[in-house]
Amino acid sequence: MGRKLVVVTCCLWIVTFTCLLLPSASASASASAGLSRISLKKQRLDLHGLMAARLAVIMSGQDMMVASSEGQEVMPLKNYLGAQYYGVIGIGSPPQNFTVIFDTGSSNLWVPSSKCFFSIACYFHSKYKSSRSSTYTKNGKSCEINYGSGSISGFFSQDNVKVGGLVVKDQAFIEATREGSVIFILAKFDGILGLGFQEISMGNATPVWYNMLKQDLVRDDVFSIWLNKDPLGQEGGEIVFGGVDPKHYKGKHTYVPVTGKGYWQFDMGDFLIGNRSTGVCVGGCAAIVDSGTSLLAGPTPVITEINHAIGAQGFISAECKEVVSEYGELIWELLISGVQANKVCTQIGLCPIIGIQYMSGIKTVVDKEDKLVCMTCQMTVIWIQNQLRQEETKDKILDYVNELCESLPSPTGDSVIDCAKIARMPNVTFTIGDKPFKLTPQQYVVKTGKDGATICMSGFTALDVPPPRGPLWILGDVFMAVYHTVFDYGNLEIGFAEAA
Ligand SMILES: *[C@@H]1O[C@H](CO)[C@@H](O)[C@H](O)[C@H]1NC(C)=O
Ligand SMILES: *[C@@H]1O[C@H](CO)[C@@H](O)[C@H](O)[C@H]1NC(C)=O
Ligand SMILES: *[C@@H]1O[C@H](CO)[C@@H](O)[C@H](O)[C@H]1NC(C)=O
Repeated sequence: MGRKLVVVTCCLWIVTFTCLLLPSASASASASAGLSRISLKKQRLDLHGLMAARLAVIMSGQDMMVASSEGQEVMPLKNYLGAQYYGVIGIGSPPQNFTVIFDTGSSNLWVPSSKCFFSIACYFHSKYKSSRSSTYTKNGKSCEINYGSGSISGFFSQDNVKVGGLVVKDQAFIEATREGSVIFILAKFDGILGLGFQEISMGNATPVWYNMLKQDLVRDDVFSIWLNKDPLGQEGGEIVFGGVDPKHYKGKHTYVPVTGKGYWQFDMGDFLIGNRSTGVCVGGCAAIVDSGTSLLAGPTPVITEINHAIGAQGFISAECKEVVSEYGELIWELLISGVQANKVCTQIGLCPIIGIQYMSGIKTVVDKEDKLVCMTCQMTVIWIQNQLRQEETKDKILDYVNELCESLPSPTGDSVIDCAKIARMPNVTFTIGDKPFKLTPQQYVVKTGKDGATICMSGFTALDVPPPRGPLWILGDVFMAVYHTVFDYGNLEIGFAEAA
């Protein structure tokens, strides 16, 4: 009945400044027995791309709130630079081709418009021309998506969208007429195809995936993503709409319920460095699986502990050392005497009384310096509390916390690590559905570099998402390359299994 399992092979693409000088991807397509396959080329990882990616994440962290033209809800913010997996789609009749990122962390489809006249980004990318499509339907409603580190604006149009061998009819998408960010100029992709829930779709537009289901184009209401962890492999990855490709995973998937419709969000259990619990997620941490983010992102205090454990070069913070040497012992005393962790910093006067907590709205603290001291105090509380769980002595705890001050993630992104030490770095483990999901240093360290000089960088990046959405862990491509992921829309579950 025309229902198909559609396979889109995508490609690992790393966006860099040098990309613009490289020949563009050549695409080839093949179709066989209900499978539509698109294969593409890919490009090597580059340091500039990663640095910029990290910066983009940090910048976006400052401004998570985004409004559409109707003053609608919050949009995900992402890092569209760095390592990217993408594929080609066709819009209109006959199809006009666009390279898009398949992004589980957002829900709209947008591509540059032929009516985009003043953005350099549009100059460098394919543009949709509605007058050349016989299936175009005008909508015209304006729309803006603000990514914090840049925004796109444009208007809605409707047309058929070809994904693999499937044709989704009358799909609403955004024709971008302005792309206000350097990110989009450098990007190798033309647009983004969101695979998140309609709840975070700008203009409440029906996402492509929803239309595939409504139009009965796919077999099962799941899609699954496999990313090739071998950076030199021929295939970059594969998205299967309507099913799961058994050749790309080992064993069984561990399923967890989706806890918030919007992103593909779930509750993550404990997070371990080596075989030690960091204690930060014992009560559960919210996490999302996000194919549109390259690295792994988490709250600053934990990322600092990871940086310390793997010996990543951080940002030596004098404020941090000062808070620890002056107040460390007091914080320790207060914690063991049973003062609630979230009250400690207000009690010693380092945070304003109004109950401002680290990660719960740093924005509301006006003075920059006060904000830093308050944040540092709250991080110190988290660190000491984690150490207390491990029953360490006071002196050991304070020494460790002081060392952590040297591992704060640097805002400029230099979490460079010594490649020679990879073999001695600890494994890290995410607990999902009571099962351990380990990443070895070979998996979480990202190797980049040019001209034979390899540079190693931590795949962990700090990102503090404020409530109500945060704090949030973002399991990006670094994680998804190790674990094959099933997005089960019908049962509202996410499944993870070892990728093969
Ligand atoms: C668009 O992409 C398809 C599939 O990748 C390809 O067969 C077709 O030739 C492309 N069309 C253009 C105009 O490049
Ligand atoms: C954890 O690792 C340490 C050394 O790395 C080892 O001594 C200890 O026995 C391990 N504990 C468990 C529970 O595996
Ligand atoms: C990390 O995990 C790998 C793979 O499971 C294992 O071979 C290795 O011994 C572990 N390393 C440490 C330090 O425990």
